[in-house]
Amino acid sequence: MASSSSLFIIKPFLCFIVLFLASCPSYVLGISELKDIVIDSPLLTKNIPTNRTIKVDDEGNGEFTSIQAAIDSIPEGNSQWVIIHVRKGVYREKVTIPKSKPYIFLRGNGRGRTAMVWSESSVDNIESATFKVEAHNVVVFGISIKNEAPTGVAYTSQNQSVAVFVGADKVAFYHCAFYSTHNTLFDYKGRHYYDECYIQGSIDFIFGRGRSLFHKCEIFVIDDKRTAIKGSITAQSRESESEKSGFVFVKGKIYGIGAVYLGRAKGSHSRAIFARVYLSATIVPEGWARWSHAGSTENLYHGEYKNFGPGANTTKRASWAKQLTDQEVEPFMSVEYIDGQDWLPAWL
Ligand SMILES: *[C@@H]1O[C@H](CO)[C@@H](O)[C@H](O)[C@H]1NC(C)=O
Ligand SMILES: *[C@@H]1O[C@H](CO)[C@@H](O)[C@H](O)[C@H]1NC(C)=O
Ligand SMILES: *[C@@H]1O[C@H](CO)[C@@H](O)[C@H](O)[C@H]1NC(C)=O
Repeated sequence: MASSSSLFIIKPFLCFIVLFLASCPSYVLGISELKDIVIDSPLLTKNIPTNRTIKVDDEGNGEFTSIQAAIDSIPEGNSQWVIIHVRKGVYREKVTIPKSKPYIFLRGNGRGRTAMVWSESSVDNIESATFKVEAHNVVVFGISIKNEAPTGVAYTSQNQSVAVFVGADKVAFYHCAFYSTHNTLFDYKGRHYYDECYIQGSIDFIFGRGRSLFHKCEIFVIDDKRTAIKGSITAQSRESESEKSGFVFVKGKIYGIGAVYLGRAKGSHSRAIFARVYLSATIVPEGWARWSHAGSTENLYHGEYKNFGPGANTTKRASWAKQLTDQEVEPFMSVEYIDGQDWLPAWL
């Protein structure tokens, strides 16, 4: 009697142990699971040391209804991290984080839920930007940023339209989306990290002289209706051997509906590298162009490493394109390229 009742208790317990062990590899140690790790809002919030949160809600359930008003409320010379939590909604405003206000964590409720939208086209690429980051140490999570000016349309004078201008050091975007056509992301200067972001555009849509790592980003190419010329994903402006700038794409995918180059040279030492990225047929066989750079191609650093997909065939690549060796690509493959281990709240 006693033994059968104790068995009754032990049996489910044994079952639990067996089940736990059996499922252990899949959700504790599984390699396939490790590949799916994402940096989410709770993780960033835990790693950014602050207790100060300002809420923005366009329906009035926060301290502010506009993102800019929340930024304006932070004193100049801010030196402690502040979270500005932007609740779901479409915020129709231009937003600037000025140089005097570093240490801001702009936290949205997810791209597609929290959006910042403006419509402006200008030959002045800073002026037209929907969102400008001019302060160092800024982290943005889960926000879509859009410039919806009707650029790229035939017979209009509307030209380039920047969605985001990043003009300072140590800026990171996690799970954000950037929407425009011509000149979407002005990665002007400084060290930057883009993790799992969606970037859409047609011509030169990631440009500037930043030193930036794009990890697992999704790049969507749209076509340009104005001209027959093909667009380019990157237009990187490195000017000399000693300049440490360059755009590096590790993993992720590139696809869309227009035909583009991976990059075109803007400076004499223009540097862009694509490594382990899926390239659809949207990438033209030449891969790289020199357009505005009339000089020699010998110092261009247009590199590729273990990309795959129909656009990754290098048979017809531009003569200066580099197929990088393991050793050559190594310094660009991790956040060490941007010294991220010293300033990023999280990385993969
Ligand atoms: C946040 O608040 C907790 C509890 O009051 C405190 O221990 C901690 O030091 C605070 N952290 C920061 C960064 O202010
Ligand atoms: C872009 O703007 C410039 C200056 O306003 C103009 O000269 C040019 O024709 C425009 N390009 C297109 C394709 O609309
Ligand atoms: C790459 O393209 C060339 C011609 O452009 C073709 O002959 C070759 O089969 C292609 N390679 C692969 C792996 O598809």
